[in-house]
Amino acid sequence: MPASIVLGAQWGDEGKGKAIDQLAPHSSWAVRFQGGNNAGHTIVLGNTTIKLHQIPSGVTSMDCNLVLGDGMVIDPWVLEEELDRWYGLSGERPEGKRLFISERASVILPFHRLYDSADKVVGTTGRGIGPAYRDRIERVGIRFADIPGVLADEKKIESQISRMNHQLNTVKVDQQISVGDLKANLQWILDRYSDAIKPTGLMIDMALRNGEQILLEGAQGAMLDIDQGTYPFVTSSVVGRANATHGAGIHPGWIEECFGITKAYVTRVGNGPMPTELVLDAGPGEHMARIGHEYGTTTGRPRRTGWLDIIALKDAHRTSGYTGLVVTKLDVLGGLDEIKICVGYELDGKHITYFPTLAEDIARCIPIYETHQGFPALSDEEWIAMADRSRAEEIGYAAMPEGVRNIVKRIEYLSGIPVVSVGIGPDRRASIAKKGGAFDNPETKASF
Ligand code: GDP
Ligand code: IMO
Ligand code: MG
Repeated sequence: MPASIVLGAQWGDEGKGKAIDQLAPHSSWAVRFQGGNNAGHTIVLGNTTIKLHQIPSGVTSMDCNLVLGDGMVIDPWVLEEELDRWYGLSGERPEGKRLFISERASVILPFHRLYDSADKVVGTTGRGIGPAYRDRIERVGIRFADIPGVLADEKKIESQISRMNHQLNTVKVDQQISVGDLKANLQWILDRYSDAIKPTGLMIDMALRNGEQILLEGAQGAMLDIDQGTYPFVTSSVVGRANATHGAGIHPGWIEECFGITKAYVTRVGNGPMPTELVLDAGPGEHMARIGHEYGTTTGRPRRTGWLDIIALKDAHRTSGYTGLVVTKLDVLGGLDEIKICVGYELDGKHITYFPTLAEDIARCIPIYETHQGFPALSDEEWIAMADRSRAEEIGYAAMPEGVRNIVKRIEYLSGIPVVSVGIGPDRRASIAKKGGAFDNPETKASF
């Protein structure tokens, strides 16, 4: 098996971290290919919760190499915090040994964070992602490979400083960057990470030629894609299948599987339209937020909630061509009398079954729902016992009560994508894999 991709099929936070953690024991590389520390990926192992922003979620498999790939924008200071947290947990320092930073990835500097703090429209994570990508597109950004050359050239430093300070002035941010700060920051990055900065595209290509299995870990979600999402309320990178190999430095022919991760409902952090949005202070929207603990992993902001939107999901499938769907957080819907699924929109009196281009039009879409009978709430232990039984008896979805299985079948039918795994709790073990599907794998290698 060559390369597989895990992608968010909604507005982010679908449970990509958990899926990567489950697949990583069967892979020798896990690669982030876009985005930066706007991502927050969670892995739950019993009482231990690991939140990752840039380190790939394969970190929990000690035999899995980790790459922060070409297409990323990387905050070296946040990475240092993440690496320290991982050391505290595992006693391991993976940088330069099994964790590598692409020479081609762009550096997020304090300037980018300051500039991003002026955002009033999108509701960004404030991590400097958009400004770092903007510098890259303008061809003035600094990649990891560029640092020695910039440090050695006083003119390059001066021109960076004057550009940065001018831009901070234009968005009325008071702080300024000094020559001394920029030099010291770049030198620190070089000293701290010189062992880890590598031509990672070449390394991954070599691994593939040697028959190794690669996992490409998406960040954000399809509706946040710069080209295909709810522009301008999007992130600054291409998050879908088309950029997974490119951002990792390999070609698309290597891809065998592409998994879309979707919650059994929808959430969104930040601004922008979400047609099936519910109110957060009462009813099913409040239920989803409370039972699903819907707070942003990166910023802690409350996530907006709504019913599953098949039109948005099919739009994501159009550009990423999922070979399998992972439906997460189905447990969260337990205890609701009714479960709704959006199967169309009404826009200006017309019934439509596509996702409009303009954010204003998406915001005016009135969802058309089909309604299903709910199923009872279960405790975390009851759900895990169901998953354990599914594994022990090798019965796949037959371990689920009929009411739960019916919802899964309906999502599969409406989306046209085979559901390969169903999440029924945050824990690594709290998933029921389709029998014989890609997630139906006993763990084979030592894992953290
Ligand atoms: P990511 O950004 O796609 O990796 O997702 P996040 O980690 O930001 O958010 C997903 C949240 O849902 C995390 O708190 C996970 O621990 C949790 N989670 C993942 N899958 C499930 C599931 O099947 N059920 C429940 N209840 N929680 C889940
Ligand atoms: P993961 O990988 C959810 C959202 C922000 C904002 C918009 C633009 O954990 O799923 P940015 O800082 O990227 O310029 O913000 O995108 N956003 C996310 N929402 N999950 C994420 O990542 C996100 N990354 C960015 O809230 O609306
Ligand atoms: Mg997240």
